[in-house]
Amino acid sequence: MAKLWAGRFEKPTNALLDDFQSSIPFDQRLLECDVTGSIAHATMLGEQGILTMEDAKAIVAGLEGILADYRAGKLEIDMGAEDVHMFVEALLTDRIGEAGKRLHTGRSRNDQVALDVRMYALQANTQVKALLMKLCQLLLDLASEHKNTVMAGYTHLQKAQPITLGFHLMAYFQMFKRDVQRFEHAYDEADVMPLGSGALAGTTYPLNRERVAELLGFSEVTDNALDGVSDRDFLISFLAAASTCMMHLSRFCEELILWSTNEFSTAIMDDGFATGSSIMPQKKNPDACELTRGKTGRVYGDLMALLTVMKGLPLAYNKDMQEDKEAFFDAYDTLMKCLPTFTEMLRTTAFKKDEMERSAGLGFTNATDLADYLVGKGLPFRDAHHVSGSLVGKCVKENRALDDLSLEELKAAHPAFEEDIYEAIALSTCVQRRSLRGGPAPSAVEDSINRGRQWMAQHSEG
Ligand code: ARG
Repeated sequence: MAKLWAGRFEKPTNALLDDFQSSIPFDQRLLECDVTGSIAHATMLGEQGILTMEDAKAIVAGLEGILADYRAGKLEIDMGAEDVHMFVEALLTDRIGEAGKRLHTGRSRNDQVALDVRMYALQANTQVKALLMKLCQLLLDLASEHKNTVMAGYTHLQKAQPITLGFHLMAYFQMFKRDVQRFEHAYDEADVMPLGSGALAGTTYPLNRERVAELLGFSEVTDNALDGVSDRDFLISFLAAASTCMMHLSRFCEELILWSTNEFSTAIMDDGFATGSSIMPQKKNPDACELTRGKTGRVYGDLMALLTVMKGLPLAYNKDMQEDKEAFFDAYDTLMKCLPTFTEMLRTTAFKKDEMERSAGLGFTNATDLADYLVGKGLPFRDAHHVSGSLVGKCVKENRALDDLSLEELKAAHPAFEEDIYEAIALSTCVQRRSLRGGPAPSAVEDSINRGRQWMAQHSEG
């Protein structure tokens, strides 16, 4: 295809450069955004009298035809075109003649690509948010189902204090809720219309930028032409949100992998979400979790790639910026696969309540509560901690649990112990007494679930 910019050149581009610089293999994904943006631009050019109404109408009709063919799968993309913008413009002129050559009036590919990517980012943010909201909903439902399911909480991956599965799941709800907020923010950043920035210095034509924004549903227009074509912050925000979200998924996956081990045995993945081994007949591997954990690396890579592309660029547009798309699309595609797969896997995972509770009873998870009991009897916490620690030491040697010690043995460690100690260090008591806001007590988790449901209702729109 002849270059639309070839006027000042005497030689054609080298085939190596043609291949090297072509972005159509990946930016054809922007075709709908590109054509829709051009329809708005042409409509405005006609309304402003910059183009004749006749030309504007011919352009709009031509572009609508291209869009319809594309949606019907009838458009053959010319891989020889430099990029999607050139492809659409050349095709339009092919189809409608002279008027097609007037479409690019008052516009540069620099503000055009900025517009296209923003439009695509708006859709991407909306779709990822919708998937995250489904996961949040599931977490609320599961947490409500498991607010009385006692399990061990860990620090340093050593048993720490008894909590509930519902409480644990609500921790993940908080993380994914913040992810939703990050994608909402990335959406707002993308929601600014850059056309009119031209190549870098605006344009001499009396464009109506607000009208284009209105036609395309943008909330605002950009306020500086140089920034309008240089800015990819909205993609970096998307990639940063994507990276954080993947990090959260990855931590959750790590826990599910751990819980599915023979050593933990507190979760059983549905057969539909596990794979077998070609040699070991007994194997049931948590591949969905492992792949999600693994794909986190590539999304971080996408973020790093774009941050690095942008870091040395002088204003305004540089061709380096063409590298934004593959990183963005890759992270987007990865999330669009990981989120529904993870959500469905979690929904179908069975949690072994009895095993969770049994495991919570091991490892002295009630040692803090035993110390707190003595504080209730007037001991300073530091002394109570010491008494509890010495009893743990005794139990470790004798392979017993704190609950197994007789009252005499307890009294030998400190005379303040009474019969009510056993009730005080029962796992259910330990959990129930932590009823302050944000705590694991079923009542506190219930409150937290209710706040979560309210938040969901407020954030389900838009
Ligand atoms: N394909 C280019 C990109 O993706 C479009 C903008 C090209 N602008 C230019 N001045 N060469 O960034």
